[in-house]
Amino acid sequence: MNKQSRISAPNSPIGTIPTAPRQVLFRVFQALFYNYSPQTAGFRFRQTLPFTSDSVFPITESPVSPFSFPSMALPKNSGNLVLGIDIGGTGMKGGIVDLAKGELVGERVRLETPHPSTPAAVGDVISAIAKHFSWKGLIGCGFPGVILKSRIMTAANMDESLLSVDLAHLVHERTGCPAHIINDADAAGLAEVTYGAGKGREGVVLLVTVGTGLGSGLFFNGQLVPNSELGHIKMKDKDSGKIKDAEKLASDSARERDDLSWEKWAKRFDRYLKYLHRLFWPELIIIGGGVTKKGDKFMPLLTVPCATALASLGNNAGIVGAAVAAKLHLGKK
Ligand code: BGC
Repeated sequence: MNKQSRISAPNSPIGTIPTAPRQVLFRVFQALFYNYSPQTAGFRFRQTLPFTSDSVFPITESPVSPFSFPSMALPKNSGNLVLGIDIGGTGMKGGIVDLAKGELVGERVRLETPHPSTPAAVGDVISAIAKHFSWKGLIGCGFPGVILKSRIMTAANMDESLLSVDLAHLVHERTGCPAHIINDADAAGLAEVTYGAGKGREGVVLLVTVGTGLGSGLFFNGQLVPNSELGHIKMKDKDSGKIKDAEKLASDSARERDDLSWEKWAKRFDRYLKYLHRLFWPELIIIGGGVTKKGDKFMPLLTVPCATALASLGNNAGIVGAAVAAKLHLGKK
């Protein structure tokens, strides 16, 4: 596929549909007709990353390491408990997840994301979280960037030195525990379609997570289409007239940066959701991330023409979903 090609969207306030959503649509097609799975993504889409920016790991040859490691044997009787860790641009949260219930067992712990978030510094925090829980079992980790077979391919709000790092290896090295890595928004979506607002929903369900970044988890009949990255589609900034990354306009950090009232931010966010709606016609859009605590301030103001719901698991969806993904991918060993 030609990286520069665009398809026009007549009457769209955005003007054109850039390459990223076009490739996402292509990948939905792949998911539907070619049994697309995260295990094969690295090979099929090696040359067609959804977008280019300086925070993208350049793929010249397969960077993909084996999906699982012989040393990552699961402890016996690992049962239904998995340590979930949600790495964010601002904070790193962890909690023990009971997969039978889809809830945290006890309190979660939150530590500041180190700056710069180098692999060593991120490894220190992960190791501190595992130590806090005296954890010796399976670990699931959500990361705010594209993940191909546990390798970090993009890192919009994290240090660039993380690009190309095999995070599962790093977690294993620092904790001695078997680990699985997934995009943070994919994780939150997985939690919601398994236990929460998206449970049992057919058709297209989209989870949009709003925090330091803007992330998306795209599902069709409960199946994840990984790394959709819809927070990086381009939108027109109505104030400056410039075309910007949606994340720079509609994330929670953009709301804080521009000192917007919830009403003003809700308008921007609604425009963003309507754009996503025109691209994917979802049955349901679930809103997750830090803003779920303030749902009453903006949910009634949304006019996107499909069902909307707050993530039932709130800001814990990322932790729970990372644990679910780990169990799905490593738990059968
Ligand atoms: C990243 C996504 C992530 C989102 C929310 C974006 O900047 O590119 O991968 O899901 O932030 O954390």
